[in-house]
Amino acid sequence: MGIKIAVLASGRGSNFQSILDGIKEGDIDGKVVLLISDKRDAYALERARQNGIPTQVISRSECSSREEMNLKIKEALDRYSPDLVVLAGYMRIITDEFLIPYRNRIINIHPALLPSFPGLDRQKQAFEYGVKISGCTVHFVDGGCDTGPVIEQACVDIRECKSADEVCKKILPFEHKTMRGVVAKFSKGKYIVEGRKVRYEAD
Ligand code: GRF
Repeated sequence: MGIKIAVLASGRGSNFQSILDGIKEGDIDGKVVLLISDKRDAYALERARQNGIPTQVISRSECSSREEMNLKIKEALDRYSPDLVVLAGYMRIITDEFLIPYRNRIINIHPALLPSFPGLDRQKQAFEYGVKISGCTVHFVDGGCDTGPVIEQACVDIRECKSADEVCKKILPFEHKTMRGVVAKFSKGKYIVEGRKVRYEAD
């Protein structure tokens, strides 16, 4: 039956789609059991519905604090006991209520080569800084802002890009490939975290 995957997304959900494609095409041995969004109008919700995946909206405005929001996420996840939780363009801070019980099972996709350009607007930061090579990083989530152990990275040459928007467009397909690849490997083995290092053991 493969692994149970839960996905959190705030927006269009193209990274979520890359996971769905990986499942359909047989690269990922598993299924998405739940899609959570903090935004009622996120297109990711529509993608989930089209694929018969249960959805839940947990918005910040309906919670009295960030901690309460994270507790609600944890409770929603607990009902499905996922093996892996993917933050696929989820634009909210994770707190201990959710992080501690799911430690080393939450991964995030970041559109820059960490530790360069953490936080928001990273493609814009990379463009404005004038770097020639950027890319994307899939990492475990810890208590910091994009500081968790790195699982996988891909380099993207952005020297021909004329705007931050072009950088976003150029990096996005690499995000999809890297995210899908990591989830596929996760479904067929395990990532072991040793300090800052992540190593992989196939089943
Ligand atoms: C991606 O660039 C992701 O790296 C960032 O937000 C964007 C989300 O895109 N965190 P999508 O919703 O997966 O299409």
